[in-house]
Amino acid sequence: MDIRTIEWKNGSIKLIDQTKLPEKLEYIYIKDLKSLLHAIKALKVRGAPALGAAAALGVCLGIKLSKAKSFPQFNKEMDKIISYIASSRPTARNLFWGLERIRTAAIKNKSEPVSSIKKILFKEANNIIEEDRVSCRKIGFYGAKLINKFDTILTICNAGILATVDYGTALGVVYRAQEQGKNIKVFACETRPLLQGARLTAWELNKKGIDVTLNCDNMAAALMAQGKIDKVIAGADRIAANGDTANKIGTYSLAVLAHFHKIPFYIAAPESTFDFSIKSGKDIPIEQRSHLEVTRLFSKNLIAPKNVKVFNPAFDVTPHKLITAIITDRGIIKAPFLKNIAKILAK
Ligand code: MRU
Repeated sequence: MDIRTIEWKNGSIKLIDQTKLPEKLEYIYIKDLKSLLHAIKALKVRGAPALGAAAALGVCLGIKLSKAKSFPQFNKEMDKIISYIASSRPTARNLFWGLERIRTAAIKNKSEPVSSIKKILFKEANNIIEEDRVSCRKIGFYGAKLINKFDTILTICNAGILATVDYGTALGVVYRAQEQGKNIKVFACETRPLLQGARLTAWELNKKGIDVTLNCDNMAAALMAQGKIDKVIAGADRIAANGDTANKIGTYSLAVLAHFHKIPFYIAAPESTFDFSIKSGKDIPIEQRSHLEVTRLFSKNLIAPKNVKVFNPAFDVTPHKLITAIITDRGIIKAPFLKNIAKILAK
């Protein structure tokens, strides 16, 4: 199954509408910034690396019709577009990294005519897309070295094809191990409240012919206690300089459980997810989402009293002490994380 989560097509951003899965594989074409913002907030496009690509393409979409005649004027318009896209979701580092890549490319070429800068920025956005394809495969290459034949892996949320351009980070490791004939099995946590594990991970693993079993989030401890899990692998939305990692809510619980059961717990993420300006996880901005996601099942059927108080952070932070290793596109990083992240990623 070869599918692309995001690409530029006929002057618009072509996306898989992830809210329609697993019922149907439907593509949408984003032609304006307002629709892009809505698509990001509604999780039609989601997952840190896919958000980096969407943000970069979004700037190209926004400046496409600019009539600016000088760089300062163009820059002012671009800044406004960047701030607008940046207001969509706060946690995934890749989204801001994608925007910064575009801004840097524009400033580097400020002496060019505006028409050339537009082409350069479009090329940069496409570079981001191509780089994601390569870096996910590198994560797969390094990560698969940690996987034994017949391992059973537990994962959460969706850190696969649908969260990236076309391969995945945590699931990239699974795909590479499978390509090596390791015959592995996956347990996918359903991932309340928005069920990315059930709707997306189970869907894409099925399509790729991987043996996948769906479990409710509160079944993870029982699975581990019964000796059914060899490794846990999760993706990441933002990794602080000391290795503390923000990922989908519930990841921290899995790390605590894995520690108790002496099961290796891995994070898989590209370099673009690391945020060196943030020293530790306590400074990572955590998105709070609507109470309707909790009181209603996938925002439809009411499953709790309408006016009940709700706690709904989209992400939690796993302290680096609970992480066995971080699988990156530059190699595997182990403790001491502060030192080794700087060493490996500065190379
Ligand atoms: O709210 P989401 O679905 O965007 O959350 C996504 C995750 O938490 C993923 O695990 C993370 O972005 C890693 S994607 C390779």
